[in-house]
Amino acid sequence: MTIQWFPGHMTRARRQIQEKLKLIDVVIELLDARLPLSSRNPMIDEILQGKPRLIVLNKADLADPAVTKQWIAFFKQEGHTAVEADASSGRGIKEIPQLAKELLKDKIEKQLAKGINPRAVRALIVGIPNVGKSTLINRLAGKSIAATGDRPGVTKGQQWIKVGTEMELLDTPGILWPKFEDQNVGYRLAVTGAIREEILNAEDIAFFAVKYLVRYYWEPFKARFELEQPPGDYEDPDEIVAIMEAVGRKRGCLQSGGRVDLEKASKILLRELRAGKMGRYSLEDPNV
Ligand code: G4P
Repeated sequence: MTIQWFPGHMTRARRQIQEKLKLIDVVIELLDARLPLSSRNPMIDEILQGKPRLIVLNKADLADPAVTKQWIAFFKQEGHTAVEADASSGRGIKEIPQLAKELLKDKIEKQLAKGINPRAVRALIVGIPNVGKSTLINRLAGKSIAATGDRPGVTKGQQWIKVGTEMELLDTPGILWPKFEDQNVGYRLAVTGAIREEILNAEDIAFFAVKYLVRYYWEPFKARFELEQPPGDYEDPDEIVAIMEAVGRKRGCLQSGGRVDLEKASKILLRELRAGKMGRYSLEDPNV
């Protein structure tokens, strides 16, 4: 699903999450490992009202592994437990119930001391559209759960999914929105396909992607698009456009007169990046 948010949606989504918070012990905050801050809701701390939280950097299979490690360290420094995962293959998923339980260690110990047998940890998955919430729910459930997904306003009885004996999961995720004020956040999300090209123009998105990737991932970029020279000045827009044109020529995007069709070239480039054809990359780095 692509992102199309309006202020009314945000208020409703926030209210829905806050209703669900009353039912659960712990929140699993799903972020995209390639762009953890851009895929994060700016008001998350306020919305979650101090609920214990496990951060899962999903789609780690598509992200630069070294950068993902830095993000895990970054979130740990913030005082959170953070792990990487790949909900589509299931990598990193089986640790989640135990990690969720560890977040409630103090509470569980107190209950045990009083002779109360603690029940399974109740969890809610939250995240922006397309980050992999439904995939993770299905993966944890070990089967396909019908009617999950992003349909604000669709109400139904709350269902709990058993995840082993340790955890129970709400079958409907909490849908959050990204920050819209910062244009670069929009571009990062658009490079990954989370925002539709009709909202942001393909050439602008590709320009943003090329500018970042030639700087931080020149070797794989060069290899994928059979280029020769990196730009002399990474900040020079003309040099970035020249690279986009070179990509267009390689992909046969020529108009009459031999000019490169930049729109077509941009769409092809983005399609290849999204399909992981250039290999793994991250679009945000805690140290940059
Ligand atoms: P949402 O509920 O948060 O909106 O996200 P959803 O689970 O629908 O996942 C959105 C897309 O991301 C899906 O692809 C899904 O397969 C993919 N995805 C989820 N987790 C991962 C992951 O860890 N790694 C990778 N590489 N992809 C992941 P899609 O193209 O929309 O659908 P489909 O091709 O799977 O049918």
